[in-house]
Amino acid sequence: MTKKLYHGAAYYPELWPEETIEEDIKYMLEAGINVVRIGEFAWSSMEKEEGKIDLSFFVNIINRLSEHGIETVMCTPTPTPPIWLTHNHPERMHVDQEGHVMVHGSRQHICTNNPVFREKAAIITREIAKAIGNLPDVIAWQLDNEFKCHVSECYCETCKSLWHQWLEERYGTIDVLNEAWGAHIWSQHYGRFDQVPQPKVAPFLHNSSLKTMYQLFSFEKIAEFADEQAAIIRKYSDAPITHNSTTFFHVDNERLYENLDFASFDTYAEKSNFASYLFNCDLWRNFKAGRDFWIMETSPSHAASLASHSAPHPNGYLMAEAVAAYALGGEAFCYWLWRQQRTGCEQPHGSVLSAWGKPTVGFENVKEVESARKEIESIILASRPLQAEVGITYSDRSRAYFKTEPHRDLDYRALISNFYEKVLSNGYHRDLLPEKASLQGYKLLFTPFLHYVSKPYMERAMKFVEEGGVWVVGPLTGGRTENHTIHTNAALGELEELAGIETLFTYPMDGTASIGEFLDTTAPLSLWSAVFDAKDAKTVGIINEGISAGHAFITEKSRGKGKIVMLGSLPEGEAGDILLSKLINHYAEDANVQLHTDVSKGTIVAPRDLNGDVVWVIVNMDGHGGTVTLPCIGIDSLTGGTVDKGILKLNPFEYKVIKLKSN
Ligand code: GAL
Repeated sequence: MTKKLYHGAAYYPELWPEETIEEDIKYMLEAGINVVRIGEFAWSSMEKEEGKIDLSFFVNIINRLSEHGIETVMCTPTPTPPIWLTHNHPERMHVDQEGHVMVHGSRQHICTNNPVFREKAAIITREIAKAIGNLPDVIAWQLDNEFKCHVSECYCETCKSLWHQWLEERYGTIDVLNEAWGAHIWSQHYGRFDQVPQPKVAPFLHNSSLKTMYQLFSFEKIAEFADEQAAIIRKYSDAPITHNSTTFFHVDNERLYENLDFASFDTYAEKSNFASYLFNCDLWRNFKAGRDFWIMETSPSHAASLASHSAPHPNGYLMAEAVAAYALGGEAFCYWLWRQQRTGCEQPHGSVLSAWGKPTVGFENVKEVESARKEIESIILASRPLQAEVGITYSDRSRAYFKTEPHRDLDYRALISNFYEKVLSNGYHRDLLPEKASLQGYKLLFTPFLHYVSKPYMERAMKFVEEGGVWVVGPLTGGRTENHTIHTNAALGELEELAGIETLFTYPMDGTASIGEFLDTTAPLSLWSAVFDAKDAKTVGIINEGISAGHAFITEKSRGKGKIVMLGSLPEGEAGDILLSKLINHYAEDANVQLHTDVSKGTIVAPRDLNGDVVWVIVNMDGHGGTVTLPCIGIDSLTGGTVDKGILKLNPFEYKVIKLKSN
């Protein structure tokens, strides 16, 4: 349970002289920084020569920060292996798909599966855990930094043999693999596991099974590295362990967090993309159910490197971000970075303090975050985010299927965020749910863009339906098997019988001038679509024009106390947005979803449970101000005043915390 709201920054004291550290601490106190994250790139400062490990600098700095009330998240330094580990050892380096062998420098240049790397990583992590694990103000650990952010699957020789082992464990015999992958196609048929190639460069596309399985193999291996490192730390420290990730990296976040203690993410979304920021909060809250998440990195103003930059935040936005995060289940809001880098490749990046020791353009905004944090801390600590009634399944594994099969640049992250944005902007309190998450407590479940629906997922969703839930399936869901092949019993496999339909055709609707109609609204249809014959179900969405006119694209089938809705296509454009909103609102009503407000677009309501009372944290995110209707009288928790029932107005980036007085 959260005891404090953290406000932190990434800090690299090993790069600076003594006087600078003094100055840093002074400013940290002024800015209200109560936690720093250190050490993730400091391997060469900790172990300059192989075997000569000296952690005294880090022990001292942690103690010194602690004297000023600043706590520490300690990192393992494995994203940047030092030169003694890499020099003259091309066989240890990461190899990309084109066969390029990485050189020393930058980050993530080594193969995390290399046995020598693993051995040295285990040693440095053990020594850090021993020296630092029991310092009283080390409140958490971060493993490494952003696994697989700059690199994806590795194609080195070590990975090759691990790949063969992994395949053997998965398939048992080569015949099973050949059959599952349909390997006689283009004479790919294998005689032994060690003949299965890594999907490096080939004249044309690889077999879908080979491509997808190589990604899943890589997901598993990086998670195993995290498991191994966490186990070492746990021998010497009770502090909880996390990793800072995103939905852009080449990892399966659900698997990655399985054996970690809490979940954290990094985000550099600009204000215009605030929906993406909220997407992360709504997803990360659910990687470790019941455990608050951390925003481990975000810029106080802008992201930048030698090669790029983003737009600095307008004044006020940082505070809106922080309040939204705390309200949506965040325990910490931390910046990258504290003091601007003097060297390296990220000198231009936004920071709290400049390299010459002066407040940056973001400094006042950081101070504003601190006063907001203080203002809302007691009510946030006393309450919890309310269980959402609307869930949307998020799957990094599905992201891998899309990477294998992007068609015209289809991107899973973009598709699912657009879908999420519709639920958000229609005023629903929502959860993004990892594939294995419990469906208990939800009323309406959306499963879009899940190419492969696993048996356990299907069983959970069916139980949810039997018990009264409404399950909206699609678009682009269920059309692929576990091995990324096509079903041969029906286009969408087992789903069809459950949904009482038959899929007649699947094809891309883009460019076919297809028009769909649902509840008197029409819109063009797009995306790889499934056209239905509503055999044992009801047609609720019909295709009016195009090459499948007269058939269904939305069907409904009651099952137990609930319903399965099949959505075969994606309505597009402005008319498509209207149609999708209609669909969301219609089925939310059908499912009796209550956690819904009329909040204006660009403003959010984060409902929280305060010992049975409901508290709304309302935040304007878009800088245009907003409104929401209070269903009853409320108490403004920040001023103590009464707020009338009816329309409540918010100024640009303003937040309010209102306790509803329902009776
Ligand atoms: C993150 C990374 C940080 C820093 C930051 C810059 O991806 O973890 O170390 O590079 O980006 O935006």
